[in-house]
Amino acid sequence: MLAAPLRRGSFGLQTIALARRSYIEIANLLHERQLRGKISQSRTLPNRRNYHSRPPLRQQCRSIEEVSTVLGQYKSSVEFPSATHSFTDLLQNANSGDTVIIHGYLGHRADLSKKLSFVRITDTTMRQNIQIISSAKENAHQKLKSISANSPVAIRGTIQTKKGSTGEKERSDIEKIDSLEIQLEDIWPLNEFPKDIIMTPETVFPAEYRYLQLRSDRSLREALQFRSNARRICREELENCSPPFAEIETPLLFKSTPEGAREFLVPTRRKGFAYALPQSPQQYKQILMASGIPRYYQFARCFRDEDLRADRQPEFTQLDLEMSFATGEDVMTIIERVIRKLWSTLLDETPASGPFKRLSYQDAMSRFGSDKPDTRFGMEITRLDYVLPIDLVQKISPLTSPIVEAFKLPCEENDPAKTLDFITRFLDSPAGAAFNNNPDGGPGIFVYDAKKPLHGLMPFGFEAAERVEEILEPDHGDLIVLQARKNVPFAGGSTPLGDLRKALHWEAVKSDIKDAPTGFDFLWIVDFPLFSPTNENEPGQGGAAGLSSTHHPFTAPKSAADVDLLLTDPAAAVADHYDLVVNGVELGGGSRRIHDARVQEIVFREILQMPASRIADFSHLLEALRAGCPPHAGIALGFDRLIAVMLGKESVRDVIAFPKTGKGEDVMVGSPSEMSEELLATYHLRLRQ
Ligand code: AMO
Repeated sequence: MLAAPLRRGSFGLQTIALARRSYIEIANLLHERQLRGKISQSRTLPNRRNYHSRPPLRQQCRSIEEVSTVLGQYKSSVEFPSATHSFTDLLQNANSGDTVIIHGYLGHRADLSKKLSFVRITDTTMRQNIQIISSAKENAHQKLKSISANSPVAIRGTIQTKKGSTGEKERSDIEKIDSLEIQLEDIWPLNEFPKDIIMTPETVFPAEYRYLQLRSDRSLREALQFRSNARRICREELENCSPPFAEIETPLLFKSTPEGAREFLVPTRRKGFAYALPQSPQQYKQILMASGIPRYYQFARCFRDEDLRADRQPEFTQLDLEMSFATGEDVMTIIERVIRKLWSTLLDETPASGPFKRLSYQDAMSRFGSDKPDTRFGMEITRLDYVLPIDLVQKISPLTSPIVEAFKLPCEENDPAKTLDFITRFLDSPAGAAFNNNPDGGPGIFVYDAKKPLHGLMPFGFEAAERVEEILEPDHGDLIVLQARKNVPFAGGSTPLGDLRKALHWEAVKSDIKDAPTGFDFLWIVDFPLFSPTNENEPGQGGAAGLSSTHHPFTAPKSAADVDLLLTDPAAAVADHYDLVVNGVELGGGSRRIHDARVQEIVFREILQMPASRIADFSHLLEALRAGCPPHAGIALGFDRLIAVMLGKESVRDVIAFPKTGKGEDVMVGSPSEMSEELLATYHLRLRQ
């Protein structure tokens, strides 16, 4: 249910939004006026974006009576008693007759008579609740009745064993403690949960109310706890190595350097000067290697101003590490160890024994059309142009001598009509449009049908149809998809056929044509090209060579032969770069680095042909490498992605406490916010008209 949970009440959500601000304001006012007379001065609150369901902020100050009431209520919440027991302690250590104090959230009260009420209280972790009986103490009973459901409270009471108890804990989303109950003696309301916020298990809160999303959704809160546990395990595993990895923080106020991604700038009050937020701690961690730190790691906050998707946030976290006197092999071994530990401890699952599989970039692109393939569901791509008649190739593509590749989508029901209906619906949907509109030609679609002439492969002609049957081995009702592409080396992360393979697989799973794949399939993608043709949508390194670094410009060539290629054919050089991929998600990427300042400078100047001013931006790194920096290698795992994959979440937003929307906004706080004239002036900035 998509509820409109927030009604505009006189003292509703407004109170929450105002609470913190009100206390500060009230304190200021009391100070100014020393509580003489009625407070009437009206204050204008700072401008704030008005989101659709956010009530307007209160513009009027409260009367002095209101202020006294608020402060009176607040006082009782300031001096609330400490809990004597957690709910787990209650079960393990509390005996009938014991007086206990517990903290938690009040449930919905059931009044059996004027003097007898039952209410459950949920513990602070919102995992367990216990019944409270209120009958004995008149004062406490009245207080209980004045407190609304979901409010935080402290409760003092006497433990009693519940009559007719099975001694079992009842299981539901919130586990009911069934063996004990508490006779209420006193209750401290700690804050009011407003009556105009409706919070039921079905309520879906908008992103503006992230705290209510978190509070009402156990799986979101548990994801954050899981994330915290995963951090601890990574730390333990890395710090238990010999020599241990040291956790070292590197600056967030960095400077703009052409590392690859678009950065966020932080203007300063010094005219014309700005910091840049780091896209990763890459340069600092390499400088740590030059500083005699053998092994570094960090849960690093990274910032990239790029187009956002379900697996991308403008600020995100990496588990970043670097090792000196090490190669890529050493790094991969360490990462496999960390991954095994995470999976076995937190998921009770151990990835297949032995080193993770490896696939070269070329193989990944030609067999799966992706540099981060999900290898669990088959549908491998095969090159077919050498068996196809020229007229068929011309029908599916305007290109001269293209490469034509194909895959087969097995359809378990063996029903050609159903397969045809499935593919027609997909290609007619918005998801299919991008594939149909490919300027190199849309996909060629064939449904294998044993009852039709040439089994539905007439356009291939007799000879090619036979070869295609030999190569793809289709069954009755299977789908065969052909796609042409330019006859050029692979570049980038995927081909249109690779994207279609993935999209059709998941559509087939959604339509019950295929089963969803299970398990985790880890693989290293290795042997990436060191350089790729510059992509106009990405900043790259700004060199004039038409090439950009595939990973980043600090990545080392793989072999001595690749070093030779730097001057003769840099586009053919292979990098010592490895990406960790699981189930179609790029979890991490790393490389062995160029540790020789002279070679690094050759890459900047001779290969990428970066302007001298941009090379100068890296002078700190070149100087550090020049100071006898040992060979080193490292990697960064996308920590948000890692947690999302472990928990089977579709978006990293589900594992981040305060994520940004697809537009890069935090709609709860209203960031980014517009810069006022005053702020612009502070930073010596002027907006272009
Ligand atoms: P790379 O750029 O490949 O390498 O990033 C490493 C991993 O970080 C994650 N990641 C992201 N996660 C969420 N949102 C984003 N916008 C985002 N961008 C990247 C991915 C990715 O695999 N300095 C190098 C690492 C190294 O060479 O040691 C680097 O940052 O999971």
